[in-house]
Amino acid sequence: MIRKAVIPAAGLGTRFLPATKSMPKEMLPIIDRPIIQFVIEEAIISGIEDIIIITGRGKRAIEDYFDDSPELENHLFQSEKYELLREVKDVSSLVDLHYIRQKEPKGLGDAVLKAEKHVGDEPFAVLLGDDIIKSEVPCIKQLMNLFDKYNKSIIAVEEVAKEKISDYGIIKEKEIEDSIYLIEDIIEKPSLDEAPSNVGTIGRYVLTPEIFDCIKETPQGKGNEIQLTDAIKMLMEKEDIYAYAFKGERYDAGDKFGYVKAIVDFALWRDDLKDDVRRYLEESVSKGQ
Ligand code: UTP
Repeated sequence: MIRKAVIPAAGLGTRFLPATKSMPKEMLPIIDRPIIQFVIEEAIISGIEDIIIITGRGKRAIEDYFDDSPELENHLFQSEKYELLREVKDVSSLVDLHYIRQKEPKGLGDAVLKAEKHVGDEPFAVLLGDDIIKSEVPCIKQLMNLFDKYNKSIIAVEEVAKEKISDYGIIKEKEIEDSIYLIEDIIEKPSLDEAPSNVGTIGRYVLTPEIFDCIKETPQGKGNEIQLTDAIKMLMEKEDIYAYAFKGERYDAGDKFGYVKAIVDFALWRDDLKDDVRRYLEESVSKGQ
């Protein structure tokens, strides 16, 4: 049973500079909700009870966002904006959040290791804010269900375009059941020649606590960072790790084009926006803009 989730949010967000100079990329909004809220909601709907957010310098906006804001709430109450007041209050009462600092952004593996004491000796989920996933069953719940069945670490994967392979952790896989694979190798950001397949890991994992010892032994890898992928490769030598081609649609919100796609699609799903946005997109395209 998975009860705890780690959400690493201490990266520098260089792909969104200069915006991320003074704001965390996890707080970039998809219309009126920051990216990290989608991720936290996914964890909560999946039954996670305890969320650990790994933060770093300049990330206070995340803590403030999920905290109570009495002045704002009072203002909304006085001005009778009750619907907005409910939304604002809902955010701060979502779930108990815990924050742990990663002093320096030494890599995703290092960020996950910071949660070791809090997670303890039990399997746990990892969700990255870079990925927003729209699916009937939340993506992390899909992995949690498979963990219950197999009792193995399991990672969400999808096929990635050739030109994007060197941005991902790529696996060599052996299918054991429909959409479920045994990982035979995993390489962080390989070149096209090195890549054993076009199947890449996305930002959803369920890991056994043995990963912590592997991270401790993992040297710096690509980008001089301690890579979670390298630690997973080490864990793979000790125990089976599975990959799952999850069901759903993923938006890579850590990438500029992926972020734009997420905003457009989420607008097209919203009753309050879809008609205007559709009309506007059609007009824009027909004008050749
Ligand atoms: P990324 O490499 O995608 O995030 O890491 P980044 O470094 O913030 O973004 P770019 O690539 O420079 O634009 C994936 C996830 O791991 C977290 C990030 O916050 C992101 O959610 N991370 C990364 C950490 O928490 N600590 C780190 O040292 C590195």
